[in-house]
Amino acid sequence: MIVLGIETSCDETGVAVVEDGHVRSNLLSSQTDLHARFGGVVPELASRQHLVSLNILLAQSLDDAGVGFADLDAVAVTVGPGLIGALLVGVSAAKALASVLDVPLIGVNHLEGHVEAAFLERPDLTTPLIALIVSGGHTMIAEVPERGSYEILGQTIDDAAGEAFDKIARYIGLGFPGGPEIDRLARAGNASAYKFPRAKMSDDDYDFSYSGLKTAVIRWIRERQDAGEEIDAADLAASFQEAVVDVQVAKTLRAADERGVKTVIIAGGVAANSRLRERMHGDGARRGIDVVTPSLLLCTDNGAMIAAAGLRRLANGEQTPFDVSVNPNLALA
Ligand code: KG4
Ligand code: ZN
Repeated sequence: MIVLGIETSCDETGVAVVEDGHVRSNLLSSQTDLHARFGGVVPELASRQHLVSLNILLAQSLDDAGVGFADLDAVAVTVGPGLIGALLVGVSAAKALASVLDVPLIGVNHLEGHVEAAFLERPDLTTPLIALIVSGGHTMIAEVPERGSYEILGQTIDDAAGEAFDKIARYIGLGFPGGPEIDRLARAGNASAYKFPRAKMSDDDYDFSYSGLKTAVIRWIRERQDAGEEIDAADLAASFQEAVVDVQVAKTLRAADERGVKTVIIAGGVAANSRLRERMHGDGARRGIDVVTPSLLLCTDNGAMIAAAGLRRLANGEQTPFDVSVNPNLALA
């Protein structure tokens, strides 16, 4: 089965062709430069740029995969969660294509796409597993008892993890998106140089909170500046990142222990964070847990994860009616 995957939920246009778990092409057009000067994603600009990029990527992606439109068995597309206008661009294109080609349309939940990315890379993965889903809009721990079914164990009660990275990066004058910038800067820093709060670390739930950490870091910077003290930016980035990662690793591995699950996957843009990946592998191995960290291109938004999720649903005999609407707040479970 050959499935085309279209992702336009935020600021990356992604188009991919996946054949039975094998990625034949996976193209991305990033809008980072377009939004950078605004310090965040401008929804209207995102929709317009998806319109410009989508047709080009479609042609290129089929070309790279060595297939034609007639070879496609289905068209999968993100229907939510995400920015409404951005989602509409992808979904309208997918509907038109599936209709003209007379193949099934598969509406995919963006978060399920992030989880399915792990199976693309590790087809041998078995359930049950615990998924830490950390992106610019979401932060949650879910148990996946079997593929396609999810139980949310906990989530952020305020900001998403990626949002916290982006806000702190912006505050200290780094570029957008801030996550990769902090990750890079932190490599030259000492993670225990400054001590920031680990919110909800000792609570026995699986929830997260980042607004207190953000406020604490900003207050700390102001106090140092007022006192005329020098701040080492790399140490600051590393210490902030460690506070975020510490809680994520502890809660995810505790979820695996308490639920008796031996496999953990990390998914979403923040799963590209090098320190999170390193700590998850190290701490997971010590506890006998198999930790799966998909390659960076499959962690951040992309079309292949949507095609993969579509393929699984198609194999399950599912398809989506053509009058499906986008849902900016679509829940995973
Ligand atoms: O999943 P994603 O590509 O888009 C959403 O669905 O939101 O995630 C984007 C988020 C941004 O907040 C970005 O700063 C963050 O993922 N991110 C990172 C890293 N790479 C991307 N955060 C920390 N470290 C990284 N290396
Ligand atoms: Zn995402």
